[in-house]
Amino acid sequence: MSVSKTNFSVITADITTLHVDAIVNAANSSLLGGGGVDGAIHRAAGPELLEACRKLKGCATGDAKATPGFRLPAKWIFHTVGPVWNGGKRGEDELLASCYRRCMELAAEHACSSVAFPAISTGVYRFPLERATQIAVRTVKEQMQNAPALDRVVFCCFNPQTYAAYRSLLD
Ligand code: AR6
Repeated sequence: MSVSKTNFSVITADITTLHVDAIVNAANSSLLGGGGVDGAIHRAAGPELLEACRKLKGCATGDAKATPGFRLPAKWIFHTVGPVWNGGKRGEDELLASCYRRCMELAAEHACSSVAFPAISTGVYRFPLERATQIAVRTVKEQMQNAPALDRVVFCCFNPQTYAAYRSLLD
């Protein structure tokens, strides 16, 4: 019988401090930095990150692209672009699922054993929190079979509401 060994954890932390193979960045389509988690990652990774991002020539909503982690403890950063919430009838759910799917694909390509996600789109992009966390957990679980080396997935929260939303789904 095949049993998933993956350990899902929900923690409150600054994602830039985590010792995992890859962290995910909730970026914008320019990939040239911004506020929120994106700003924190660029500050912590150092100016080499912006240089590497320039070479990627942007990223479509729902897609993800990898760079090294530079000065971070994480080896890789997967930059993904979540949808801006616009009422829910503009494909937001599917685009957000696509962000998680693409990051799981990158985790497999880079043979990561651990990856940490922030709550993509739930800050400046205003995606409703509970709806977003449901999509995150469902999509990551669906993709586990395609990332056989992955044995630790971290949902990294930065406020108590986000932590509570993930806990209620994973407990
Ligand atoms: N570690 C972990 N999570 C964090 C951190 C951190 N250091 N800082 C913030 N969060 P947001 P979005 C949480 O706004 O909604 C940027 O300007 C935050 O509390 O960072 O996808 C980009 O350039 C929230 O739960 O990303 C884009 O323009 C979550 O990360 C735009 O914001 C996402 O909030 C993307 O907006």
